[in-house]
Amino acid sequence: MTLQLGDTVPDFKADTTDGPVSFHDWLGSSWGVLFSHPKDFTPVCTTELGEVARLKKEFDKRNTKVIGLSVDPVKDHHAGAGDIKETQGHALNFPLIGDPDKAVANKYGMIHPNASDTATVRSVFVIGPDKKLKLSITYPASTGRNFEEILRVIDSLQLTAQHSVATPVNWKQGEDVIIVPSITDEQAKAKFPKGWKTLKPYLRVTPQPGV
Ligand code: BEZ
Repeated sequence: MTLQLGDTVPDFKADTTDGPVSFHDWLGSSWGVLFSHPKDFTPVCTTELGEVARLKKEFDKRNTKVIGLSVDPVKDHHAGAGDIKETQGHALNFPLIGDPDKAVANKYGMIHPNASDTATVRSVFVIGPDKKLKLSITYPASTGRNFEEILRVIDSLQLTAQHSVATPVNWKQGEDVIIVPSITDEQAKAKFPKGWKTLKPYLRVTPQPGV
């Protein structure tokens, strides 16, 4: 069955480049990003893994653990690590799951047989501290992802989890946000002391809370 937003994500035990992981325990009370890539020693994957290593400190700042996966065994992940460091300038600094029997990939629907029945597609799952799925995206093997967009979404998810707001198109940290329609103007007065601009009764814009 397809994993949907709000579902508790499947737990699993797996071998990784940092040793065995029991997924829910490994996540603890952190946010998490689980992402799959098709194959070690392939060009797009090599660039993506280097980019996630570059951005690791940004995920850390957001209390977010990152873990990758492909259907290669862990020994191949270790073997590919040298190429990532050499060509991307950033050494692997997060665990990669080896999933040669596709046990995790199948639980998460990362194999799309009409694209490839042997390798995972480029899936991303953002998981909240409550172990519930907050976002999922799927890219084809031929398109490398933009992991700064994943950080942007995490910023939005963490903000909207705390305040009665939503974030508009292309929003970035520090920019104005939208007061959710379920909040009355009376309630908004207490929650948003900096005030707001009413463009339409359903579209009220306020400075980002907490900055
Ligand atoms: C790549 O990472 O470059 C790649 C992997 C599988 C299929 C196509 C491209």
